[in-house]
Amino acid sequence: MSDPITPVLTKRWLSPNSWRLSTYEQLEGYTAVRKALRGTPEQLVSLIKEAGLRGRGGAGFPAGVKWGFMPKDEEKPHYLVINADEGEPGTCKDIPLMMADPHSLIEGCIISAYAMRAHRCFIYVRGEVLHCMRRLSAAVSEAYEAGYLGSDILGSGFDLDITVHAGAGAYICGEETALLDSLEGRRGEPRLKPPFPAASGLYAQPTTVNNVETIATVPFIVNGGVDWFRAMGTEKSPGPKIYSISGHVEHPGQYEAPLGTTLRELLDLAGGMKDGIPLKFWTPGGSSTPLFTAEHLDVPLDFEGAAEAGSMLGTTALMIFNETVSVPWAVMKWTQFYRHESCGKCTPCREGTYWLAQILERMVDGRGTEEDIETLLDVCDNVLGRSFCALGDGAVSPITSGIQYFRSEFLELCRQNATSSAASSGGDAQ
Ligand code: NAI
Ligand code: SF4
Repeated sequence: MSDPITPVLTKRWLSPNSWRLSTYEQLEGYTAVRKALRGTPEQLVSLIKEAGLRGRGGAGFPAGVKWGFMPKDEEKPHYLVINADEGEPGTCKDIPLMMADPHSLIEGCIISAYAMRAHRCFIYVRGEVLHCMRRLSAAVSEAYEAGYLGSDILGSGFDLDITVHAGAGAYICGEETALLDSLEGRRGEPRLKPPFPAASGLYAQPTTVNNVETIATVPFIVNGGVDWFRAMGTEKSPGPKIYSISGHVEHPGQYEAPLGTTLRELLDLAGGMKDGIPLKFWTPGGSSTPLFTAEHLDVPLDFEGAAEAGSMLGTTALMIFNETVSVPWAVMKWTQFYRHESCGKCTPCREGTYWLAQILERMVDGRGTEEDIETLLDVCDNVLGRSFCALGDGAVSPITSGIQYFRSEFLELCRQNATSSAASSGGDAQ
């Protein structure tokens, strides 16, 4: 196994009342912010760049580089927006983090906002998780009362206000520019990029949108330093990562490990396959990444390792399926999800997901033909790379990879249909 680490991001999760300010302070909480506020914003941006922290929302864009795009002057108001709209199927890391350790996110927000000269931060929380909104709002109130938020934080002269905002209940509002639309009170639809949010974001002002796990990692880097952080993970993908493991394993849940850990190693942590039934397929980063099989058990789950194996790392949502699961059925369920969540702004995704779901439903229902497999691939080809945002590309990933690795299963479904149609029309008897 790659070097097992002492938990970092999850280290407080099992402490009694881990979400309370008093527990957080007893466990080194709010020590990083004191240190950070003694330095300059430029020093913090350099620190995060040198540490090589990459975005934990899925795309892995270097966080320090993104922060560096923010203007250095304060002519216009700057905004920090936290994407807590965790919605990728199978992904369950940010919500547990905010439930168990909300102050690590708040401390990360203060440090990051200071680095980017932002005095206003919005945490956009997935609207369906009311319990998480309540937990986070209570923690924000505690932080205000203790002087960690508001005016002149810890006597530094720096001011920051945080607003916890309920999301609009749509998967697309997790896309950063749709999220900004939604935050502005409009229907969430992706905006054309460029301009990127640092140039024109919330209310057309300089804005940085970062994922919860990314920002919650910042205080640890401030306290631990670059070398400590880089000692975990790989050269290009350093640091610890929370992997969410669901499906047919003995102990589903969140497992923290260095980037670059393999599924084989993570399965050991999760107690192995449930009831010993062998693995059939899995997702490395939610359903928007291609399906993997048992052949991929030793792929290092970091940004480069996943890319070399033909995927993206995505959200490190490992959905594990054993031999009892039909691939066409699973692919159909995901496609129905994308059909429902497509925002409708662009034709390839709006129409494509509709037709893909129809064809898959027909196949799973026993009414498919072999020709449908080619039609599926043809429609995928017209969605991939031709859609306005990443949702379209993500929607076709399970279909193309499902057919790549399990074409025989799709074929079998169609042949069963052909056989039963022939039998019902007396075909075999003639
Ligand atoms: P992206 O690669 O377009 O952008 C990633 C980040 O880097 C954004 O903040 C973007 O503004 C910034 N960026 C990229 N190029 C830039 C440039 N040239 N200049 C300045 N900033 C730049 O990826 P996107 O579309 O934001 O996210 C796709 C990812 O989201 C996928 O990997 C997917 O796994 C993940 N995802 C996560 C979900 C979740 O629930 N956490 C839900 C759905 C998708
Ligand atoms: Fe909307 Fe889909 Fe087009 Fe994205 S790809 S803009 S979700 S229709």
